[in-house]
Amino acid sequence: MNTTLATSIDKLIRHKLLTHGEFVALLQANSEQLRADLASEAVKTRQARFGNRIYIRGLIEFTNYCKNDCLYCGIRHGNTNAERYRLTKEEILSCCDQGYQLGFRTFVLQGGEDPYFTDARMTDLVAEIHRRHPDCAITLSLGERSRESYQALYDAGAERYLLRHETANAAHYHMLHPAAMSFENRMQCLSDLKDIGYQVGCGFMVGSPFQTPEMLADDLLFIQDFRPQMVGIGPFISHKDTVFADKKNGTLEDTLFLLSILRLMLPDVLLPATTALGTIAPNGRELGGSNVVMPNLSPVGVREQYSLYDNKICTGEESAQCIRCLSGRMESISYHITVDRGDAPDFPGTHS
Ligand code: 5AD
Ligand code: FES
Repeated sequence: MNTTLATSIDKLIRHKLLTHGEFVALLQANSEQLRADLASEAVKTRQARFGNRIYIRGLIEFTNYCKNDCLYCGIRHGNTNAERYRLTKEEILSCCDQGYQLGFRTFVLQGGEDPYFTDARMTDLVAEIHRRHPDCAITLSLGERSRESYQALYDAGAERYLLRHETANAAHYHMLHPAAMSFENRMQCLSDLKDIGYQVGCGFMVGSPFQTPEMLADDLLFIQDFRPQMVGIGPFISHKDTVFADKKNGTLEDTLFLLSILRLMLPDVLLPATTALGTIAPNGRELGGSNVVMPNLSPVGVREQYSLYDNKICTGEESAQCIRCLSGRMESISYHITVDRGDAPDFPGTHS
């Protein structure tokens, strides 16, 4: 390894930050040896902060209607082949009740940008989950909404929000999204969420079309500056009914490499091993500096329909009902599934 690179790695471990140029050099140097070295440092960091604890979140994909048309996404509005579904309030509440019985203390409500879920409907739902399960954290992942809407949802009891920034490079953002979507608005949403007091998760796809090491360095610098409590990354996987049907998928290796870098940059961050990672490699979710898994709590009948990319894992193992076998697999690599709410270390309390 050349000395400049060795200095950069040392700097990343000690100071948790690099310049844009140093990040680009690190990303370009991506090799098996470098990935292994960074992964072992990332595991050390994770263990120092979290021991062998791994947090579980129950994921409820409650609607696949979406008004947007992201070029990469299988549930984009323009995909007339998508079979649409929307869970009722009762169905969502019953997913939470079942999840609670299974030991989940965080529910992640994720959906497309579905105009049916107005502020009135969403706040009513959040308030009811909060009333039934006051010891649980409610995480929302509903895309872009107004500041007033985010505030109302927070006041109703939601404490965490996941909104991937997708790319911190404005030009790249416009290559991945239709002209009607705005990079500035996405960034504004993230800053509003943080301002309101949410624990916020941002993130991006690894190997998305047109992505360069320079753009990834933009992502890392943005994340370093934004200091999210959570970061969601996963490989880009093409979906047959999208503009990017023929684009190459991101790789497991690159995703793990970036997970290691993120762990070293933000030692306390909650870093899920995402479903997309599990989709490209059966054991993908058992690797890397990650410390969160989000099994699917959605009714089995609709899981295939929430298809952002092709060949999503939707099997028994993926399902939350199979939490015991997930536990078994995690124990086999010395992780222990933790039942507590798993707040970010710099965010210990609950707001209500
Ligand atoms: N491949 C991988 N991830 C995708 N997402 C959307 N479409 C794809 C795809 N084809 C990710 C986006 C979005 C999150 C919910 O899923 O980053 O923010
Ligand atoms: Fe729904 Fe991107 S297609 S937000």
